[in-house]
Amino acid sequence: MNDSLPPLPTVPWVAALHDLVRERLGYEVPEHRMTLEIAPRVLAHAETHGHLDPRGFVDTLRTSPDGEAWDALVQVVTVGETYFFRHAGQLEALAARCRRRFETAGRALEIWSAGCATGEEPYSLAMLLDEASVPFHIVGSDVDESALAKARAATGFSDRSVSHLPVQLRERWLEALGPGRWRLMRPTDLPVRFVRHNLIHDAPLHPEGGGAWDAILCRNVLLYFPPKTGCEVVEQLGRTLAPEGGLWVGPCDHVADPGPGLGWVSDGEERFLAPPGVKSTRERPSPPRPRQATAFQARGASPTRLIERGLRSTARRAVEERLREVQDDGEALVLLGAFLLREHAFDEALVTFGRAEGAHPKPAGLAYLQGVALLKAGRHEDAAAAFGTALEDDPDDWASSYQLAMLYRRSGRSLREEVMLLRTADRLGASTPRPPALGAGARLVNSVHAEPRLTLRLVEERLTHLGVVSRARTNEGADSGRPS
Ligand SMILES: C[S@@+](CC[C@H](N)C(=O)[O-])C[C@H]1O[C@@H](n2cnc3c(N)ncnc32)[C@H](O)[C@@H]1O
Repeated sequence: MNDSLPPLPTVPWVAALHDLVRERLGYEVPEHRMTLEIAPRVLAHAETHGHLDPRGFVDTLRTSPDGEAWDALVQVVTVGETYFFRHAGQLEALAARCRRRFETAGRALEIWSAGCATGEEPYSLAMLLDEASVPFHIVGSDVDESALAKARAATGFSDRSVSHLPVQLRERWLEALGPGRWRLMRPTDLPVRFVRHNLIHDAPLHPEGGGAWDAILCRNVLLYFPPKTGCEVVEQLGRTLAPEGGLWVGPCDHVADPGPGLGWVSDGEERFLAPPGVKSTRERPSPPRPRQATAFQARGASPTRLIERGLRSTARRAVEERLREVQDDGEALVLLGAFLLREHAFDEALVTFGRAEGAHPKPAGLAYLQGVALLKAGRHEDAAAAFGTALEDDPDDWASSYQLAMLYRRSGRSLREEVMLLRTADRLGASTPRPPALGAGARLVNSVHAEPRLTLRLVEERLTHLGVVSRARTNEGADSGRPS
């Protein structure tokens, strides 16, 4: 399968761009993404702005990282996926904590949402704090100026973005502007302001009147940085926290070592990072949980069982809780990735699957899921390579051979399509068609995608169309399930 991906040439200006992105944004962009996706767009931008020498253009980006060209690069490289009430349990726990903090501090709380994208995160917390009558100021920051412009305007939220908002809050704060477009009513009633800030390159922010932050959210940002960079960012943010403050990261954000100034504090089901001495404000500390008593067991059912019973939110909470306990649990990472796939957060799903790759043993179905995520992200060559790996892992995995056939069809490689269809037909035509040997994550993906069921007849029709005399048997009853 490896011949489906041509070797990627190392072009000096692309290598220079790669270094610049790492140094300035902290992103370790995979080489194939840099070469196939980012570099061509940068080149197009350079050409339309009259730069005929791409190396010179990269040098300009390096020397003037504030201009329009830099903004365009940031937009291409960063992933701005966000929505209202993302990780709602965490936001609610934080709001409850802020309420208690306000009762002792007796002043408006200072909160920083670092890496806020288009603003849904700070606005969600603002709605909760307003509901709890806690006075506050929130600063939302991001490196992407175009995302901040949308956050300030607060007029372009999608249906998907508002879909997790509790109905009463949505009715109170948002109004539909037209199909699939929502705006925040009375944004000035929520004391949220937005500033541009680069977590890798700029000095950390402080509240407007000086002092330190009562709470910092830096969620779903660290996962894009190499682990060491992520830890450095956390350490730096920690230095700007008030002694009673806390730092909330997302469930996918891996913090291997928060440094000497911060430790994990449990707050019910949630955790956050805080300076020494900060305690959970729950009345009674929860008894220590044995490391291996997983959330899966504690709730009496595995996430897979919960998913089968339609209890997806409970399953998801169990998975997130498991990952807070054991950050490199392969099965939980695969499930989390599958949930992210379902939410169309393809890049985050890919990062999560990337983390699952390091797990031992390698989780079943991982390569197939990576293939689906790459496919949905429009990265067809990479998807082909991933489905190829899935077939190497399990040569009988007909779902992967069918996906490959469809990818070859799309790229007009009919000979390869034919080979893969024959392989699929061969497996499907066996006396008892067996479900693909996929992990729980893949079953979840299949259970939430509504593609028609794949049948042997469908495969044979395509083979006939290609002019191939199918060697697959006609098997009316061949019922196959469905690759997603
Ligand atoms: C996936 S979004 C997360 C948005 C929000 N925190 C949430 O959880 O829904 C990640 C955001 O981090 C921002 N980001 C990435 N690198 C950054 C950096 N070096 N400094 C500041 N923001 C950065 C991106 O522009 C993007 O908007």
